[in-house]
Amino acid sequence: MTRREAVAAAAAGMTIVTSAQAKPAALGGDPVRKKAFPGWPIVGPAEKEGIHRVLTSGKWYRGNGKEVLAFEERYAQLVGSQYCLATANGTSALMVALHGLDVQAGDEVIVPPYTFIATVNAVLSKCALPVFIDTDAATFQMDARKISAAVTERTVAVIPVHIAGSPADLDGVLAAAKGKGLKVLEDAAQAHLAEWKGKRVGTLGDCGTFSFQASKNLNSGEGGAVVSNDGDFIERCYAYHTNSNARKPPAGSSAFMSGWNGAPTAQGANLRLTEFQAALLLAQMERLEAQSRRRDENAAYLSKKLREIPGIVPAAWHTGATRSAWHLYMFRYDAAQFAGLPRATFLKALTAEGIPASSGYSPLNRQPFLENILKSRGYQRIYGEARLKQWREQNELPVNDRLCQEAVWFTQTMLLGERSDMDDIATAIAKVHQHAAELATSSRPV
Ligand SMILES: Cc1ncc(COP(=O)(O)O)c(C=O)c1O
Repeated sequence: MTRREAVAAAAAGMTIVTSAQAKPAALGGDPVRKKAFPGWPIVGPAEKEGIHRVLTSGKWYRGNGKEVLAFEERYAQLVGSQYCLATANGTSALMVALHGLDVQAGDEVIVPPYTFIATVNAVLSKCALPVFIDTDAATFQMDARKISAAVTERTVAVIPVHIAGSPADLDGVLAAAKGKGLKVLEDAAQAHLAEWKGKRVGTLGDCGTFSFQASKNLNSGEGGAVVSNDGDFIERCYAYHTNSNARKPPAGSSAFMSGWNGAPTAQGANLRLTEFQAALLLAQMERLEAQSRRRDENAAYLSKKLREIPGIVPAAWHTGATRSAWHLYMFRYDAAQFAGLPRATFLKALTAEGIPASSGYSPLNRQPFLENILKSRGYQRIYGEARLKQWREQNELPVNDRLCQEAVWFTQTMLLGERSDMDDIATAIAKVHQHAAELATSSRPV
């Protein structure tokens, strides 16, 4: 490319690979980028002040402090939900919510396979049976068209996961759930501030859960929340998350146990958020909207650039999705358009160019731990061999299998920087594309 052509291409917003970058970094050339992407978490005076405030108050747990309560109020307001209950982490938020929905041993719950293991572990923690349905090829979300066929007389709930922070097909999920009388628990662990038709996700089903684990867009190291507009549901969740202690004792009961209210009426555990975590969340929340806007802008710009590169197909949105949290930036990699360069080599080549990338999830529905659980004494007793045999036969999810072979992920922090960072990402991918044949056939290990 001549200098004049390069200037014209740049003016047209095209991704340019200059001759100075001609040799791939994986083969000894200069990397496109030497700078690190923004770090995480971001710590400012508000975080330090919050931790100090809790430390010196001596009130470190929700039983005597005010931070968790303040966070619950603020987070409910933020997502547009009537109630919020903070929990120890996103996994316990799911477990608490499943309790609140009365999911029990012998019940079946429909889940997507393209999710973090916690979605499924929470179902298993209730001795319920997770039933996987396939993934939508374009959006990487649960394929809501497959829900109805997966329902049995034991199915009680469906868990759409807003994976990567982009909304699952909530119209499809809610319609199928209504038709079959199922509860809807939105796993919004990755989807803070994501929206479906202008409403925040987590508020469209019967309840929603969030994670505030260290990698998440809203972060307190560990942490989680359940949101809902159903006050009775939240009270069941509340009691479960604090060792069966209801917020208010049932009328006429006497406090006969240790604990502040006593009179337990259901099972429980200790899954409380601490005051320290709540103080961090209150501080981090101040930045959430501005950070989300930055990700929105950068992701839109990046998608435009990546769509120009043959073999790179960014995950689409369902019609109805109006905002993504961009917890992950996901695209599909077509090796055929990269001279057959395997995805693993593509990832190494990209990382060598200074652009860290990963391959994301492997097929969760095929993980050996599931077979161990199905074979366990408890599951054999509860579900019987005939149902478990049928489960195995139906557990073929070809769209998801293929996605797991083709997906590439960037982390949310990569979208927090400058527009020029997005240019670097696109330039590096274009460079690998340009040199794909050389990388595929190189005798030097990439
Ligand atoms: C989709 C999904 N669900 C649930 C969880 C569990 O959250 P936590 O790690 O806070 O327990 C995560 C965490 O990564 C997640 O990504």
